[in-house]
Amino acid sequence: MIKQTYAAILPAAGIGSRMQSVLPKQYLPLAGKTVIEHSLSHLIQHSAISEVVVVLAENDCWFRQLEVAKHPKITLAPGGAERCDSVLSGLHAIKKAEWVLVHDAARPCLTHSDIDLLIEHIETYHQGAILGTQVRDTMKRSDANGNILGTVDREHLWHALTPQAFSVQQLRLALESALLQGVNITDEASAIELSGAACSILPGRADNLKVTRPEDMAMAELFLTQSLSL
Ligand code: CTP
Ligand code: MG
Repeated sequence: MIKQTYAAILPAAGIGSRMQSVLPKQYLPLAGKTVIEHSLSHLIQHSAISEVVVVLAENDCWFRQLEVAKHPKITLAPGGAERCDSVLSGLHAIKKAEWVLVHDAARPCLTHSDIDLLIEHIETYHQGAILGTQVRDTMKRSDANGNILGTVDREHLWHALTPQAFSVQQLRLALESALLQGVNITDEASAIELSGAACSILPGRADNLKVTRPEDMAMAELFLTQSLSL
């Protein structure tokens, strides 16, 4: 029995420069839909999530053309210069929910079970958490010239993924404070860490990749079409 209320924010105001495509990467075709439609689908369908804020660039002429744009759970918000500005804008558009799951529009392989992991954590501990995968390779630190300085112990080292789930109010205050301090915030957890609040990292699925470069599209297509109960 779910007791808390949940929203989702999909930051989708980036231009996808590393993808080097004519369209922002969230609108590229992937397994019969666009990337963003895949990224949205499990969040929209999840019964615990009552509202989904999609954050769009000012000149976005693509999202409103998609069928999913008419879904009653969706509201739109304007994007900002950096991802954290877009997320903050999305937070201001949340109507009722106390908790929010922030998920990159560029992560189309999110599964229902990974959303459940985060929601179960919040229901149990009333505390923020993010998805991650543990580092598998041996990790090296180098100098700027590529000379190895040493090997980094990978035992407690993770890749940070999304969704990242926090109290709406806590995340808003943490992001505002980080922006005021001029700190470089690349994910929501960094802002929470800076505020000193607790945050857990939960082992998510390794196929929840972010499409960043052209070669990632083939991998995402494979994951979606070979879908192991996605
Ligand atoms: N994003 C956003 N607002 C920004 C920058 C990024 O909403 N000002 C979103 C992107 O649309 C994406 C997510 O944040 O869904 C993750 O960012 P990233 O993968 O870096 O996407 P882009 O910034 O679009 O790509 P690139 O860095 O290659 O330009
Ligand atoms: Mg970027």
